[in-house]
Amino acid sequence: MPQIKTKKTGLVRVGLGKRSYDIAIHPGGLTQLGQYLKDLGFSGKVGIITNPVLEGLYGRTVEQSLKRAGFQSHMISIPDGERTKTLRWVAHILDQLMEQRFERQSVLVALGGGVIGDLTGFVASVYLRGIPFVQVATTLVAQVDSSVGGKTGVNHPLGKNMIGAFYQPSLVLLDTQTLGTLPTREWIAGLAEVIKYGMIADRNFFTFLENRMDDIVGMEQSALHHVVKRCCEIKASVVAKDERESGLRRILNYGHTIGHALESLGKYKKYIHGEAVGIGMVWEADLSQTLGLCSKQVVTRQRDLVKRAGLPTELPTVTFRDLWAAMLHDKKVAQGLVYCVLPKAIGKVTVDPLDQKAVKSWFNQLGKNRT
Ligand SMILES: NC(=O)c1ccc[n+]([C@@H]2O[C@H](COP(=O)([O-])OP(=O)(O)OC[C@H]3O[C@@H](n4cnc5c(N)ncnc54)[C@H](O)[C@@H]3O)[C@@H](O)[C@H]2O)c1
Ligand SMILES: [Zn+2]
Repeated sequence: MPQIKTKKTGLVRVGLGKRSYDIAIHPGGLTQLGQYLKDLGFSGKVGIITNPVLEGLYGRTVEQSLKRAGFQSHMISIPDGERTKTLRWVAHILDQLMEQRFERQSVLVALGGGVIGDLTGFVASVYLRGIPFVQVATTLVAQVDSSVGGKTGVNHPLGKNMIGAFYQPSLVLLDTQTLGTLPTREWIAGLAEVIKYGMIADRNFFTFLENRMDDIVGMEQSALHHVVKRCCEIKASVVAKDERESGLRRILNYGHTIGHALESLGKYKKYIHGEAVGIGMVWEADLSQTLGLCSKQVVTRQRDLVKRAGLPTELPTVTFRDLWAAMLHDKKVAQGLVYCVLPKAIGKVTVDPLDQKAVKSWFNQLGKNRT
């Protein structure tokens, strides 16, 4: 993809050869979407995939911006929520694209959080064997994580994100002002992924988060801009080195081994994703310390920061059997081994297979400490 011509502050390039693209971090940028698409050389029809919440908040702004730049747009709004991340809704969107005669030159815009982004990216990857798409991410989780890196897909009744494709967007547009309308719980949940980046890759960024967490929680604009930009830089650099998760990219799963297990044990109702990741990070660090891989200070600093972000930190009441069974169900399992990202220091992690006996003994110790 051509690079954005007008160099705006907050531009991060994802370097993937022919599939390289820009992430534009641009407060108020939603009003410029049409111009961005024009700059990239698009001229065809634009399909906006969104849900009624986002349509109500930002649909008009996006449509008007596209119109001003000379695009013809068509809005496809599907119900809100994870339950639409299914093949059924993929088929529904494909039907609409067929009926509206979308062509190879057409482009899709994902206007929403991770659900809309994952779904739209997958639709874009299969419609006419692939048409371009743009991520306009509106949640913190989507702005720092899901919109970057090209993992797209839907859920299967037997497992989350089990059907999908690696398919990179042509542009990621992050208007940080849209975060202002997020429900508080969704906003806070995204901070878990933010802390994750500090833990896996950047000690200085972690310290920045410690210094500025109160401002960040209060959405102070310059702190927020730095947070989104730094997270995108880290994700972009990891993805550029390992697009298909054959090695390094696995570090992005920090907190997700226990996190995903808790999400599934809570039937995806008890915790939203970021909350489960927050708890997952706290306890994966604790496990790492017990295994002798990191110091107590790492565990304490991280727990304090997770707490200050307003995230839950306590492990819910679960049995080891259930927890281990849920961990074994995860996608990070290979040849029966549960691979887990374990911190060695702030900003440094290792990915190791877990020994069931060692994890059991850690877990039993927790029980004793807690009673
Ligand atoms: N592809 C990846 O690499 C990747 C990475 C992380 C997560 N994910 C996926 O992302 C999904 C979770 O994404 P999410 O946390 O963004 O949840 P989400 O997309 O469900 O959005 C959360 C809620 O916030 C609402 N919303 C979104 N933006 C808003 C705004 N600006 N103002 C008001 N309301 C707004 C949505 O309508 C929804 O109700 C999961 O399906 C997960 O599997 C994918
Ligand atoms: Zn996550």
